[in-house]
Amino acid sequence: MKLEILPSLLAADYGRLADEILRAEASGADALHLDIMDSHFVPNLSFGPDFVALSRRVAPSFYRNVHLMMSRPDLYIDVFAAAGAQTLQIHVEADCDLHAELAHIRAAGMKAAVALNPETPVERIAPYLDEVGEVLVMTVHPGYGGQKFIKECLPKLEWLRARRPALDLMVDGGVNAETAVEAVRAGANQLVAGSYLFGRPDMSAAVADMRERCGCG
Ligand code: DX5
Ligand code: ZN
Repeated sequence: MKLEILPSLLAADYGRLADEILRAEASGADALHLDIMDSHFVPNLSFGPDFVALSRRVAPSFYRNVHLMMSRPDLYIDVFAAAGAQTLQIHVEADCDLHAELAHIRAAGMKAAVALNPETPVERIAPYLDEVGEVLVMTVHPGYGGQKFIKECLPKLEWLRARRPALDLMVDGGVNAETAVEAVRAGANQLVAGSYLFGRPDMSAAVADMRERCGCG
């Protein structure tokens, strides 16, 4: 499967946001990951649909992967579609009818994805596997960048990959050059990295290095 690398805009320098989006695009990364936090589902606020719209305006061909860490993502699906989200990830722990909202995302023209928190058993995803194009396995407790990768989540990737050989499986949280290799070995083919990639003066070299280490250089 194609390995995809997604810098997370959460770790960008917001004083130079447009340049940071362009830097991520020019690095050879495959898509931009945008973290939306509601201070209810997670104990933090990040940014909203305007950042998605800005990304579309600044870098129209750079794919926008939007991660909704929200208790009521159902209220914002059309808003994020209008802002230019191309994949929309909603959490299995959210307070909504997931079957209905995954259909809502697809009807709005986006790729539907489901995300799960570290403490959530992977079996909770089973009823949705035929309704999604991607599963996001969190490898930190969502809410903040710069946390340590939780290795105990890796068996979830193995479980999912054994059941869905062709499904996109993403990891998010604490991904760096070393943990990326472990995630890919367990079955991931999409890697989100925030602080690791935006923290590098040469993001292109870091992206190339990550691809090479994961066996896709
Ligand atoms: C965490 C977010 C992540 C975050 C990852 O709640 O979902 O996407 O940006 O940041 P790092 O790569 O620094 O762990
Ligand atoms: Zn995320």
